[in-house]
Amino acid sequence: MMQLLPDEEAILAGESGETRQQMMEILVALGKVFSAERLVPIQSAQVSGASYKTIGEAGLEWLSRLDARVSVPTVLNPVGMDRVLWREMQISPSFAEKQEAVIGAYARLGIKLDCTCTPYYLYQTRFGDHVAWSESSAVAYANSVIGARTNREGGPSALAAAIIGKTPEYGLHLVPERRPQVVVRVEGAGSWDETALFGALGYLAGKTIGDKVPFFRGLRPKRDQLKALGAAMAASGAVALFHIEGITPDARIFGYDVSGLEVITVEAAEVLDLRDEIPVDAVALGCPHCSSEELGRIAELLEGRSVVLPLFVFAARKVIEASPDAVAGIERSGGHVYADTCMVVSPALEQYGSIMVNSGKAYAYVPNMCGASVRIGTTPECIEVATAGRARGSPALPT
Ligand code: F3S
Repeated sequence: MMQLLPDEEAILAGESGETRQQMMEILVALGKVFSAERLVPIQSAQVSGASYKTIGEAGLEWLSRLDARVSVPTVLNPVGMDRVLWREMQISPSFAEKQEAVIGAYARLGIKLDCTCTPYYLYQTRFGDHVAWSESSAVAYANSVIGARTNREGGPSALAAAIIGKTPEYGLHLVPERRPQVVVRVEGAGSWDETALFGALGYLAGKTIGDKVPFFRGLRPKRDQLKALGAAMAASGAVALFHIEGITPDARIFGYDVSGLEVITVEAAEVLDLRDEIPVDAVALGCPHCSSEELGRIAELLEGRSVVLPLFVFAARKVIEASPDAVAGIERSGGHVYADTCMVVSPALEQYGSIMVNSGKAYAYVPNMCGASVRIGTTPECIEVATAGRARGSPALPT
């Protein structure tokens, strides 16, 4: 039975307004379902359900009725368009108007309009912080790479936690619940350097792991590779926390004993086999949103070349603003760099029948969310396809 403090009881009784009462009701209902004993204060929230494409009119109406302010720093997930370049993205004025209404509703609640699934590139979150994040790749990163503690919130429960400043203490907020449940041994991945391979591995592994907490052996990923791995497992499975032996903070600090756990083995060759060669109409990079290093790499690969297929790159606006040379390089080659949105939550990519990505998460989502066939490749392979090997100024290849 959940114990509420006197001020929490008062909010539940409606003494600080109808919206806060409604938000407290959401948290208490969740707490009861998951047998939480109390609410725990959070340091930040990240709220999904921000694209008009996904929440529609019903979501907009619900948001517009809310009347309160968030109690902790809260960041919004990507929306359905770049707020500046939406016309260039061929977003219709009617969609843009509805999308701005959704954004306005979140702004009235005091939410930061960074519109990104990578808030960890912009704001500091520390090991042991309790947070309430809802975008699945951000949740996996917060828990696994930072060592913060969050359940995989839905949009409404993250918003409720943001407004109240607390969340029910259950699941991944509790240290014993964060223990590994299955060992994943990856054979032959020791020399991997391409981030997309970690995304493809996550896509394959997530299907078998489901919502368990995996403990990986045989991997030495860097920061953006950890991001790609977690995002893909969260999409093809429902992984909200993963550990990597000797790398991720919980694994280093708690030194888990994993003997006796079920062991899954993944061969590097199975991962490489995902890369088939279907023809593509467009190339989309930045799922999750690119870091400045990733923008720099894309620009480097495009140096001296120009695109022959539409190339879309997505990142947080602040990351884009901090990477002017990389962005200029990508645009010089004919690529588009967009903020605030992504290939999945924007309707912009729905016009393409086949899309190439470098992300295991996008590989899982694009067929359903964009109605397109999808091909996965490494970032250099994506750039090769986008430019068809064409140097800037040289004639287009005959079709
Ligand atoms: Fe982010 Fe969109 Fe991918 S929200 S994780 S870029 S589907």
